[in-house]
Amino acid sequence: MTLTLLVKNGRVVNPAKKQDEICDIYIEDGKIRAMGTNLSMCADEIWDATGLVVTPGLIDMHVHLRQPGQSYKETIASGTAAAAAGGFTRVVTMPNTKPVIDSPLIVEGLRYKIEQESHVKVDIIGAVSKGMEGRELAAMGGMVKSGVVAFSDDGHYVEDCDFMRKAMEYSSMLKKVIIDHCEDTHLIADGVMHEGAVSAALGLKGRPAVAEDIAVARDILLAQATGCAVHIAHISTKNAVAMVRRAKAAGIPVTAEVTPHHVIFTDEALRSYDTRFKVNPPLRSEEHRAAVVAGLQDGTIDAIVTDHAPHSWDEKDKEFNIAPSGFVGLETSVGAVLTHLYHTGCMDLATLIEAMSVRPATILHLPAGVLEEGRDADITLLDLQTEWAVDASTFYSQSKLSPFDGMIFKGKPVGTIVDGKIVMKQGEVLA
Ligand code: DOR
Repeated sequence: MTLTLLVKNGRVVNPAKKQDEICDIYIEDGKIRAMGTNLSMCADEIWDATGLVVTPGLIDMHVHLRQPGQSYKETIASGTAAAAAGGFTRVVTMPNTKPVIDSPLIVEGLRYKIEQESHVKVDIIGAVSKGMEGRELAAMGGMVKSGVVAFSDDGHYVEDCDFMRKAMEYSSMLKKVIIDHCEDTHLIADGVMHEGAVSAALGLKGRPAVAEDIAVARDILLAQATGCAVHIAHISTKNAVAMVRRAKAAGIPVTAEVTPHHVIFTDEALRSYDTRFKVNPPLRSEEHRAAVVAGLQDGTIDAIVTDHAPHSWDEKDKEFNIAPSGFVGLETSVGAVLTHLYHTGCMDLATLIEAMSVRPATILHLPAGVLEEGRDADITLLDLQTEWAVDASTFYSQSKLSPFDGMIFKGKPVGTIVDGKIVMKQGEVLA
């Protein structure tokens, strides 16, 4: 391991400190020891970051690393290699595994695996309910002792209002956020895409936007009633964004995240019946897409996450109605948002970095998201200008199924530094 590293001449965009300037960063034993112009320390390695943007390590607070139990889809090793390649120094993994992450024993087993195999930092989200069945509370207190950073039954809505209220009461005592997958189960029954003109034209059963709206409304009301912090996973509808905006203004502890795919694509992409675009919540119509972009712009939506959801080729290569939902995103996220949010002028760089680092850290109470002396040296380097074509066959992720495959992006991650160690340079993940 490099004991000392000097990252020189980069444009440091460090929103938590309102900093945007050319600055050097000196790292020793995994920590940032100095930041300033023209630092002259000798270092074991010098990275000339002239022309590059240097940011606090990017955090993806919503990924599915599939372990335990589904290593044919992804493993800690492959998923975190994908994260490193994508510029993420830290990811937060969901509990819809086999078995579900719903007990301290499973959390501890997974933490051991992470220590052995991971390329980046990984935090664990515990399930809200045992087996994610929405009936009995999971061992929330024990899992917090074992280190989970939040609770979620992601993939499923926590349907029973009384149960969710109890879960929120517990979670707020434990000072953890509940991350909810908001789609009312009855309203979406058997639906495979957004309900609208395109689903009607394709003859596919839709999942209406109101299914998300109702679920979000319920969660906001319960957050208000219990005082529990609630985070709306992968928000995708116009009304949901409006409700979160109003709730925040009223001081209710609610936050939200959006994915690059809900920012970029609409349900029009499904006209090809290409299962790579099948995801929950579904890609929606233009009015919803525009509303989530507006929500990001005005800060209603806090975080950008990938919902990296790897599936095997055999599973996805099925007729549309029966193929599983979700696809990988860790290796395309930075390129996608730089191209479609930054270079289009929708968002400035500092706000984008905030959504991909500062705010996830704040929501989950992680000691991350800021570059300053004494902190862990978790750093991402970005090249804003290079154009590149996505080639899913080169992904580090085990799953090569991506709706972004073949797209041309402008801007990419070129360096990932975790605890002062370079884990990715110029797209190559270093052992
Ligand atoms: O499309 C999805 N796939 N949405 C989710 O919320 C879960 C995910 C998965 O785990 O495959």
